[in-house]
Amino acid sequence: MFEGLTALPADPILGLSAAYKADTNPNKVDLGVGVYKDEQGNTPVLRAVKQAEQAYFNTENTKVYIGPPGSAAANTLLQNLIFGADHAAIKANRVRTIQTPGGCGSLRDAAELIKKANPSATVWVSDPTWANHIPLLGNAGLAIKTYPYYDHASKSVNFDAMMETLSKVGKGDLVLLHGCCHNPCGADLNQTQWQAVAQLALKNGFTPFIDMAYQGFGEGLEQDAYGVRLMANTVPELIVSSSCSKNFGLYRERAGALSIVYASAADADKGQSNLFSVVRGMYSMPPNHGSAIVETILGSATLTAEWHQELAEMRDRIKALRALLNKKLIEKGAPGDFNFIEQQSGMFSFLGINKAQVQSLVQDYSIYLVDSSRINIAGISLTNVDYLAESIVAVLKQ
Ligand code: LMR
Repeated sequence: MFEGLTALPADPILGLSAAYKADTNPNKVDLGVGVYKDEQGNTPVLRAVKQAEQAYFNTENTKVYIGPPGSAAANTLLQNLIFGADHAAIKANRVRTIQTPGGCGSLRDAAELIKKANPSATVWVSDPTWANHIPLLGNAGLAIKTYPYYDHASKSVNFDAMMETLSKVGKGDLVLLHGCCHNPCGADLNQTQWQAVAQLALKNGFTPFIDMAYQGFGEGLEQDAYGVRLMANTVPELIVSSSCSKNFGLYRERAGALSIVYASAADADKGQSNLFSVVRGMYSMPPNHGSAIVETILGSATLTAEWHQELAEMRDRIKALRALLNKKLIEKGAPGDFNFIEQQSGMFSFLGINKAQVQSLVQDYSIYLVDSSRINIAGISLTNVDYLAESIVAVLKQ
């Protein structure tokens, strides 16, 4: 039966890792998949994670099933991290959080629940958005449309165009927003813009759906949660998919959460029972280890302090690399203004070069980046930045 299948191309993001590994050029640079890297190009296990793993190893006393929602304690700790423990929606018992297999699992669980609640819902995603949003949400059977977001000319959010499109979106549909550190463009909504979108959601009745995969990578854990917390204060219903892949460095452990703010506690109980059924029907229950490590860290003041320190180190390094790349591009005589790289936030920015120039960077210079010209800033280092800037300048002048 499988003879009828046609082979598919490699994933546009994950496929870059294999190509990078196979490249024998000693100067190769990996700016592809969005993982944090240190100066040596490694993605080490965080110190807090190592300590938590040790502690967990010594105390874990069962491997019995954990159930569709995962650990209740982990879910409460993550809910507090995302919304703030004193959030009015939590106090009103309107928020439910389940543990999910990474941020992807969270997005897919949410899509399946939306499909159950309103099979004709359309999810409006930003243009551009993370490539995997489309299959994660669309393969659940939801319709997907785009709203204008990034203006490639000004290298910033085209907020007027975004609001113009969203002003026509109404009740029953959803608007997917990036909580912080927009992937792929690095341009985030400012606080005034978040307020305007929240008021529009309230007025029109659409449901905001926030993907927060990078909390702590922008300005800080609290600052990066501004949009989520504001939205949860403003609208009756909100979906938040969050991930522990980046901020806890737990990528392969698949630790994430799905938090839903419901209009009432009664709705929350109904919604939660439907979500359990969604989970049971897809993967039965989430993996335990990553979430147990998050629970161990967030349950310990000492480990939390260590984790905050490491998160700040990662965030500060990325910010410094943004400034450094801009400086090097100026020094090497790059045509155009790359100041936007320094202004944008999180792991990603578009270089703003065309497909042929991207292909030249990959093929002629062994610099790996996504076709859209998205670069993972964390892949830059003091060692490769000169080569990178010179190569960019060279392709720009071709
Ligand atoms: C990325 O955008 O590179 C990361 O979120 C990794 C992935 O799964 O695509």
